[in-house]
Amino acid sequence: MRIAVIGSGYVGLVTGACFADLGHQVVLVDIDQAKLAALQRGEVPIHEHFLSELLTRHRDSRLQFSSNLQKAVKECAAVFIAVGTPPTDRGEADLSYVESVARAICGAIGDYKVIVEKSTVPVYTSDWIRKIVARNGTRAEHFDVASNPEFLREGSAVSDFMYPDRIVVGVETERCAAVMQEIYAPLTEGHYYKTAGAIPAPDGAQIPPRLIVTSTKSAELIKHASNAFLAMKISFINAVASICESVGADVQQVCQGVGTDRRIGPRFLSPGIGYGGSCFPKDLMAFRSVARECGYEFGLLDEVMRINEQQRGRFLRKVREALWTLRDKRLAVLGLAFKGGTDDIRESPAILLIQELLHEGCHVTAYDPAAMDRAKEVLPATVEFASSAYDAARDADALLILTEWEEFASLDLPRLRQQLKDAIVLDGRNLYDPAVMAAQGFTYYSVGRPTVIAEAYVAGRSEGKTPR
Ligand code: UDX
Ligand code: UDX
Repeated sequence: MRIAVIGSGYVGLVTGACFADLGHQVVLVDIDQAKLAALQRGEVPIHEHFLSELLTRHRDSRLQFSSNLQKAVKECAAVFIAVGTPPTDRGEADLSYVESVARAICGAIGDYKVIVEKSTVPVYTSDWIRKIVARNGTRAEHFDVASNPEFLREGSAVSDFMYPDRIVVGVETERCAAVMQEIYAPLTEGHYYKTAGAIPAPDGAQIPPRLIVTSTKSAELIKHASNAFLAMKISFINAVASICESVGADVQQVCQGVGTDRRIGPRFLSPGIGYGGSCFPKDLMAFRSVARECGYEFGLLDEVMRINEQQRGRFLRKVREALWTLRDKRLAVLGLAFKGGTDDIRESPAILLIQELLHEGCHVTAYDPAAMDRAKEVLPATVEFASSAYDAARDADALLILTEWEEFASLDLPRLRQQLKDAIVLDGRNLYDPAVMAAQGFTYYSVGRPTVIAEAYVAGRSEGKTPR
């Protein structure tokens, strides 16, 4: 099928590349000429596993890039809207880009087309798109509007697209349902997975995925409810971590005991400095706002957001507890991205914490495997950037781990301790075992677990040596 994807950002680019790998003919449309030119040159603007292979495989064959929206819509049977839906200052989703794209599509509809919401949008958005398109003179039999929310996690977006737990389509007519079923048939009928070069299956993949066909409003709500529930799970375990700190329990052991209940499950129970990214913060505010518009005060979401904000303040207090005064202290910071495996720093807790530490007068040397270029655009020139974790640690008063990159969980600890002026580590993502850190001579702070003092430090005091 010929498919147009409007918006080639984190969502649109992955969606277009994956549709091409399913065998569809795709036109990726964007208003950002620089982005299109870079894509045409073979550059990959975002850090996503397998994306580069898919773009190389299909560029100039099944995957075209264009800024001509009208032409793309005329040529295609389905038009996916994947433009940004950023939060307004009142916390609502800014749907102005979605509306402008819907208006632009109207002028190009001469025969039946399905207009698909791929961006995360509040419930009722499909009604609005239908109104806009009808008001602009498009005959009702020439279009349908569908909702097809994405559940892509950054860093694993291609795998998440090809091996979803479920594909959700919201439709209002049989004809529209048939188009959406045809688009996803390579996955739901399983033959994609038998093709040579298919993206490899992640552990525990559901093959073939379920296709859930529902109404547009239900599909829109499934997306917001899913993200809100995941964020709630994270804030819940962060709140439990704070109680663990008060009583001297170990939150990782509590997580194990809670997560082994199959009704709860172990995933999204990792305590830390809180969630960030372009989705959870924005989607919770949007869901809160649209619930209020529908007459329901979803106060639970306020608490989820408050706990999330509180996590950074609690971590900052730990830094003070470790270092006493912060002015002019030298801090090595590992992690700038909002999570491991991505270069995205949108709403990154690491960036927000660094800004608070700079405000306290700290000197920061940061390292991140993928996000340093984007971080340089938002952090002041006083922040130094290192070429490795060890380079960042040199002569630092303490080392902070703020993003759960795998490489940060397997550092050469003796080498790290040699680099640091003081062997103090504050781990905002619980990547290490406190007993191991103490045995390796570190004073180690983490989330929801007791602080441990370096055994050597303790030993030094008992043998009368002055600790470093
Ligand atoms: C964003 C949100 O992150 C995601 O939650 C939501 O589901 C979709 O919007 P993302 O791909 O991250 O997805 O947005 P972004 O990276 O900002 O990409 C949006 C793209 O749309 C940009 O490339 C922008 O140039 C393009 N765009 C925006 C258009 O082509 N036309 C417009 O009118 C507006
Ligand atoms: C999320 C949803 O998972 C995805 O389904 C949706 O389509 C988009 O939003 P994403 O934001 O890309 O995906 O990343 P995710 O892996 O969900 O992590 C979000 C944030 O939560 C990150 O800051 C991460 O560090 C944090 N997190 C995640 C935790 O703090 N603890 C956890 O257990 C899991």
